[in-house]
Amino acid sequence: MAAMKTLVVDHPLVAHKLTTLRDVRTDSPTFRRLADELVTLLAYEATRDVRVTEATVSTPVAPAHGVRLARPAPLVVPILRAGLGMLDGMTRLLPTAEVGFLGMIRDEGTLKAQTYATRLPEDLSGRQCYVLDPMLATGGTLAAAIELLFQRGAEDVTAICLLAAPEGLAYMETVFTDSRQPVRVVTAALDERLNEFGYIVPGLGDAGDRLYGVV
Ligand code: URA
Repeated sequence: MAAMKTLVVDHPLVAHKLTTLRDVRTDSPTFRRLADELVTLLAYEATRDVRVTEATVSTPVAPAHGVRLARPAPLVVPILRAGLGMLDGMTRLLPTAEVGFLGMIRDEGTLKAQTYATRLPEDLSGRQCYVLDPMLATGGTLAAAIELLFQRGAEDVTAICLLAAPEGLAYMETVFTDSRQPVRVVTAALDERLNEFGYIVPGLGDAGDRLYGVV
């Protein structure tokens, strides 16, 4: 059984926000706001399988059966730097989630991922993890991040990406084949391809630069 599933969220509000996000004329403040709103919409779909436990509360009229988010709380992991632009949009829906950080950079020559900062719980046994990475391009960075979470015992991992390239998804499918380590990718669009510089086409350019400027 395949261990990786991909969901391209098909919704007019998602498509509308993504179109403005792609537009080269969209300035950084607008880009940040739209990315934030888009992540909240994606997070709604991405958390469909979040674990809950049954709970009963008393309404002013009668007891009502419902659910609460299960413990341990999910872990949200933005990949620095561009993933930071997705954090508020995610924790708005999951305010009790804990947040870990992974600093990863893509070597522009080899396109391989290098980790320069890790701030994660040592033991992720039984934890559901949500990785935030706006651009699933070659898949190298995202796959390395997810492998690290599984090495620490994560139960399942869902990646939320604004955009994905077919090459990146195909690579991830070759890495995550073990059904005991399920991976889900939730994205607003599956674009055409990568160009020779590893950029998604048509994409939206460099997500970090568009969020925070060229620094
Ligand atoms: N990272 C980006 O920011 N944009 C791309 O198109 C690919 C990787």
